[in-house]
This record gives sequence, structure tokens and C-alpha cells, in this order.
Amino acid sequence: MKKKIIITGGAGFIGSHVVRRFVKNYPDYSIVNLDKLTYAGNLANLKDIENEPNYKFVKGDIVDIAFINELFAAENPDAVIHLAAESHVDRSITNPLDFVMTNVVGTVNLLNTAREHWKGRYDKTRFYHVSTDEVYGTLGEDGMFTEETAYDPHSPYSASKAGSDHFVRAYQDTYGMDTVISNCSNNYGSFHFPEKLIPLAINNIKQNRPVPVYGKGENIRDWLWVEDHARAIDVIFHNAKSGSTYNIGGHNEWKNIDLIRLLCSILDKKLGRAEGESAKLITFVTDRAGHDLRYAIDATKLKNELGWVPGITFEEGLEKTVDWYLANEEWLNDVTSGHYQQYYSGQYNDR
Ligand code: NAD
Ligand code: DAU
Repeated sequence: MKKKIIITGGAGFIGSHVVRRFVKNYPDYSIVNLDKLTYAGNLANLKDIENEPNYKFVKGDIVDIAFINELFAAENPDAVIHLAAESHVDRSITNPLDFVMTNVVGTVNLLNTAREHWKGRYDKTRFYHVSTDEVYGTLGEDGMFTEETAYDPHSPYSASKAGSDHFVRAYQDTYGMDTVISNCSNNYGSFHFPEKLIPLAINNIKQNRPVPVYGKGENIRDWLWVEDHARAIDVIFHNAKSGSTYNIGGHNEWKNIDLIRLLCSILDKKLGRAEGESAKLITFVTDRAGHDLRYAIDATKLKNELGWVPGITFEEGLEKTVDWYLANEEWLNDVTSGHYQQYYSGQYNDR
């Protein structure tokens, strides 16, 4: 069957990898990338596929009720893969309402439009919500998040994502829509906006600028190669039972300070610096408010039921990531200067 899929947030970090994967792997599908192009959206992330016949970009805001209605009427999608979000925890601490608007109201607007538009064919349509492990809150020294872990979000970002997850389940339970949710750990890889730890550290080390470490650097994150996440989304989208939830993660826990020291050492070698030179840039700064101590994902359900396991090791992935940032100086300079926001030429509409 030919499928028309709206992928929201496709110009962002993970969304661009998901769009690329679907456009390349499913030439019979028609992929509509719906993105508002906030500071985090960058069409340069999709330059290699922008002229593919099964790809189309539409600029728009998921919060805009009239616009989303028009889009569903015009495109008549069979499925939505929803990634659009405000995604940065630090920004959520200074601007929580932006997160409520996009992550909660925007998600409900999409669900509600889909509910109306897909009435009578919920068994032939699918709403896939891409979410985060941060909804589960924080772990102590032991244990892992499973699909059964109770929600306990701490930041405005994770609270907004938890809210959106609950609405997705409510639309499944109340209206019988077909929905799927996945909750993934920290991603890393190419096209990652340099406000997040790994690309920020690479960029700062390269530029000989201080690398800010929040608190004592003792917090632990569980890192996954972004292309492995995109593959997991593909597998879940095509195979998950209606109403199911999957955790996605790479069993790859790193203390922030150890990860930053590793990046310093990799970059010393690649930049021809003396061993230990880049580590001098490490600067301990005031901790993030409400900083979750540890995340760790148990992805056994995804492995046992759908056969997904990570494709590459962290060592390989980090090496590729550092190489990508060193080779893509223009992308990095455009993003840090804000120049990338002029890339969009307005071929659809300009809400
Ligand atoms: P990102 O910030 O890089 O990209 C978000 C994209 O959404 C951008 O292109 C932006 O322009 C778009 N967008 C924002 N508000 C919009 C709106 N109102 N209407 C339409 N488009 C809008 O985010 P990311 O890191 O790629 O994350 C994508 C999704 O995956 C998010 O839902 C996030 O919660 C989830 N997630 C991220 C991670 C991670 O490590 N980055 C891990 C697990 C889950
Ligand atoms: O766990 C999944 C989540 O991972 C996603 O849902 C979020 O969208 C994504 O942004 C990410 O959230 P984190 O807050 O874990 O990512 P961030 O890169 O902002 O920070 C990673 C860790 O590094 C965290 O413990 C805070 C710390 N940190 C971060 C920055 C930006 C620093 O010590 N210094 C920094 O400058």
C-alpha cells in the first residue's frame, strides 16, 4: 500500500534522520515534513534529499488549528510520526510556556485533527508519538527505566512530554485511535544542535573555549547513536501493536565528566594537540535546576518483541560524530551564527 506520512519536526536533529531514512528506504511512500523552523529547525540538515520525488517540506506550526486542519485535508495522510517539540531542558527552565504550547497543545491539536480526519478508519491509520525517557524522572545508583516505570517528570520539558504522552494514550483509550509511543534516551550524532552537551563540547574544544560542566559532572546519561534511534522508529512504526509503548536505548551509560574527558582526549589527537591540552578547558559551573541524576533505559522489550538492537558501539559513534563536526565546519558556523535561518526560501507558506 502506498503510504502518505506526515513527519513533524523533520528539520530538527532526530527528525532529519527519520525523514532521510523514510525517504530513502521507502520510495513508494510519500513523506511530508511539517516543521515550523524554530531556532532548532534547519533545512540544510536535509539538503541531500530535498529534491527526492517522494519528499515535500511544509512550513507550519503544530499549534495552529486552522493550518493543521488544512494540511490534513490537503495531504490526507495515513500516518503521523510526531517529533516536533521544544527539546532543550535548559530553555524549558527559562521559558516553560513555550514547552506547554508546542509539546502539549501542539500534540493535542495534531491528535484532535487526526481524530476528526481519520474517523471510521482508525484501523488503517497510525499516530506515532516520539517521546523521551525523561518522563520517568531520575534513577539512583541502581535500576533501569522499563515501560512499566511510573511517570515522575521533574523539568518543565519532561513534564510537557509526559503530558503529551498521556494525551496520546487518552486518544487511544477514549476514541479508539491507533497510537504508538516510544521513549528514548539521549541521542548523539550528526546535525545535533550545539546547545546540547556533545556538540557543544566538541565545538567549544575546537574553538579553545571553556567547556561548561554542570555541578560536579556526576550526572549520568545513556547515549544512543541517532541513526539507531531512527531505525528503531522505523521498526516500531511498521510492527508495533496498536496502543503499545517501547523504550529505546543503547545500554551505554556515561558520567558527564568522563564523557567530556573522553571528547577532550579524542580531540587532542585529531587536532594535533598535546594529550591533556583540551581538558584544561573543562570549567565547572552552577548546576542545572532540578538536574536529574541518572537515566538508564532497559530496551529488552524492543529487542525481544521486534528484534531491534543498537547497530554500532559508542566508541565508533563518537568517533564518527567528532569527524562529522570537524568536516562540517560550514554547517556548524551557519548554526552558531544564525545564518542557517536564511536557508528557507518559502516555497509553501510562511506562517
Ligand atoms: P530538535 O529541537 O532538534 O528539533 C525539533 C524540531 O521541531 C525543529 O525542527 C523545530 O523547528 C520543530 N518544531 C518546534 N516547534 C514546532 C512547532 N510548534 N510546530 C512545528 N515544528 C516545530 O529536537 P530533537 O532533539 O530532534 O528531538 C525530536 C523529538 O525527539 C522531540 O519530540 C524530543 O522530545 C524527542 N527526543 C529527543 C531526544 C534527544 O536526545 N534529542 C531523546 C528522546 C526523545
Ligand atoms: O534523555 C533524553 C533527553 O536528552 C531528550 O529528551 C532531550 O530532548 C535532550 O535534550 C536530552 O536532554 P539532556 O538534558 O539529558 O541533554 P543535554 O545535552 O542538555 O545535557 C546532557 C547532560 O549534560 C545533562 O546532565 C546536563 C549536562 N550538561 C549539559 C550542557 C548543555 C552540562 O554539564 N553542560 C552543558 O553545557
